[in-house]
Amino acid sequence: MDREAERRELAGLAADARQWVQARRAAGEARVLLNQPLPPGRGEELPPVAAPLPEMALAAEAAADPKPQPPWAASLDAFAMQVRGCRRCGLAAKRQHLVFGEGDPHAQVVFVGESPGAEEDAQGRPFVGPAGQLLDKIIASMGSQRSKAYLCTLVKCRPPFSREPGEAELACCLPYLEQQLALIQPKVIVALGRLAAQTLTGRREALAELRRTEQRWRGILLVPTYHPSALLQDTELKRPVWEDMKRVLEHLKPTES
Ligand code: URA
Repeated sequence: MDREAERRELAGLAADARQWVQARRAAGEARVLLNQPLPPGRGEELPPVAAPLPEMALAAEAAADPKPQPPWAASLDAFAMQVRGCRRCGLAAKRQHLVFGEGDPHAQVVFVGESPGAEEDAQGRPFVGPAGQLLDKIIASMGSQRSKAYLCTLVKCRPPFSREPGEAELACCLPYLEQQLALIQPKVIVALGRLAAQTLTGRREALAELRRTEQRWRGILLVPTYHPSALLQDTELKRPVWEDMKRVLEHLKPTES
């Protein structure tokens, strides 16, 4: 791990520790009342708590940057730390977690959804609800597994009532997705659903139309397909999705020389 990644990891740990202390304080636990006298009879047995290192405090501030700016970090882990405190748009106020994305940082295939749902917001992980379980099955049917792919979304925070993200929200979040894709450099990007397909192609046609023609994102093959949540509603979509996944597999095949 390079120094920058180490610094950001430390920043993340410091921010987590701060949150934990605040939560314990809110719950009235004497042992974490760092700068206040303890109530009589509580916590005397505990050793005094050391003041936090100034470097840790600074790092925690950096990690909580409400408007992260380039230059972006050069590894996915460090980049996740860089954007974890983002408050660029109104979605931040209601989120439980910013859902950055997860998977193999060297994945050959990246699946891009729309935005986290309720379950994803609660757990801080992408595609863990019913649509995610179906996506896991789709990936398994391709002879692979979730941990070998990378899963993320256009927008990293859940829109209220899981509505579609608005243009301003998309514009705030898109640089994060672009940097994720630029770092991973997959062989194929699978755009799940109309909004992901339209956003990544920069086109306005219907998903059925975008599926019909070859698409690229900065030179990388982009395969638009139906979102697993649409499949949950309409099983007729299984066949076209499988056709799209076969195109993905075809593209991953090693070429004979
Ligand atoms: N839908 C998405 O697009 N992404 C998720 O993580 C969950 C549901």
